[in-house]
Amino acid sequence: MNVLPKIHSLETGPLDEAGLSQLAAVMATSLVAPLMVYLRGDLGAGKTTFTRAMLRKLGYKGIVKSPTYGLLERYTLSHFEVVHVDLYRIAQAGELEFLGLQDLHSSKSVFMIEWPERGDPHLAAPDLTIRFSHAGTERELLFAFHTSITENLQIVLANSIQ
Ligand SMILES: Nc1ncnc2c1ncn2[C@@H]1O[C@H](COP(=O)(O)OP(=O)(O)OP(=O)(O)O)[C@@H](O)[C@H]1O
Ligand SMILES: [Mg+2]
Repeated sequence: MNVLPKIHSLETGPLDEAGLSQLAAVMATSLVAPLMVYLRGDLGAGKTTFTRAMLRKLGYKGIVKSPTYGLLERYTLSHFEVVHVDLYRIAQAGELEFLGLQDLHSSKSVFMIEWPERGDPHLAAPDLTIRFSHAGTERELLFAFHTSITENLQIVLANSIQ
């Protein structure tokens, strides 16, 4: 893995749901694989909404459920295999083995992981962390880019945040 010399980050101002979804669509247009994305933030902070909007832009037409109960949903698209995971309900990180995430890694895989802290230390390191915070009725996002695979994504997102 190529680690960037320093972590680059980007912060949005307050976004309504349309604005948050628009940013997720921008991310879809410059998505790369394989990619590990950690989605951090409180209950209801917008993690599933972001993933759903990204999947829509990637062309997925079906229902995008929150994986809260199933823990994991897979979406096979033409260029990507998106694996949407929600670890909120795992009792202990050791349960990750039963999910078999390792077996889902491929050159096309994009992991979107909600509540990644519940998987410590069994989860692969992230290329990108998106932190979602409540800002009144809206949400603020902080993107932290950890590896060089995200370089183009950084540029595209930076351009659309300005
Ligand atoms: N930018 C936004 N502004 C206002 N409301 C939003 C925004 N983004 C999402 N919401 C709303 O917040 C609610 C919760 O969103 P979501 O399910 O995406 O949260 P989550 O982070 O996945 O929560 P959980 O940790 O419970 O899975 C939804 O009703 C959604 O419509
Ligand atoms: Mg969610």
